[in-house]
Amino acid sequence: MILSAHNIRKRFADLDVLKGIDLEMQQGDVVAILGPSGSGKTTLLRCLNFLERADEGILTMDGADIDLHRATHREIVRVRRKTAFVFQNYNLFQNKTVLQNVTLGLTVGARMRRDEAEATALEMLRKVGMADRLKHYPSQLSGGQQQRVAIARALATKPEIIYFDEPTSALDPELIGEVLSVMRDLAVEGMTMLVVTHEMDFARNVSSSILFMDGGEVIERAPSRQFFEQPREARSQEFIRSILQR
Ligand SMILES: Nc1ncnc2c1ncn2[C@@H]1O[C@H](COP(=O)(O)OP(=O)(O)OP(=O)(O)O)[C@@H](O)[C@H]1O
Ligand SMILES: [Mg+2]
Repeated sequence: MILSAHNIRKRFADLDVLKGIDLEMQQGDVVAILGPSGSGKTTLLRCLNFLERADEGILTMDGADIDLHRATHREIVRVRRKTAFVFQNYNLFQNKTVLQNVTLGLTVGARMRRDEAEATALEMLRKVGMADRLKHYPSQLSGGQQQRVAIARALATKPEIIYFDEPTSALDPELIGEVLSVMRDLAVEGMTMLVVTHEMDFARNVSSSILFMDGGEVIERAPSRQFFEQPREARSQEFIRSILQR
């Protein structure tokens, strides 16, 4: 087991956003989180990576239990070293080049030597098909290209798991494919990924299982194929029907 989480709870004012989420990921799992808007998908990812502080919950990584509410700075750093996050809007540094965006976390964060960091960055930028744009700035790239740089940046830190929050939903339709294709390659290579997505093609054909959330709860977790062909829960069935109608 690469990661497990137990009873994650989060409340904003009087709104229960996560009502006791359990999650298990094995090495190489690609799990798509599906669910209606407001069901708590983003909040779940953010709590797992301490971008948001959960009210309750235990995260277990590499055999160590971490209290999501009480985690110390040191524990948070340790978790973040094993994880990476890819955001909907890429979050690249606008005043840094493509190469600098990828090396920065390595030289500053991981204290890697510059030449070593650049070699790693180059390797990852090659993987996502962006090695010919090293000196470009984000504003000189398409959204799909920026997101591929963001993925290279995530990969460069050699995480055990990558969290993606709707990585293609800010993109024009014609640019979605290039990002999904990079993610598909990563899945085939065995990268462990937890992906909030509205891309049903990805959920159906790339992810190994589906975590379906509604109202702050996990309604169903099932192998992807089974989820789409034989959803167990009434709310899952309704969700799939609503997608098919779109
Ligand atoms: N910082 C915050 N303060 C108050 N309420 C919040 C905050 N962040 C999220 N919420 C609320 O928590 C609920 C869940 O939000 P979340 O962003 O996790 O949903 P989501 O499933 O990712 O939705 P979407 O598909 O629209 O991205 C929503 O009702 C949202 O308004
Ligand atoms: Mg969201």
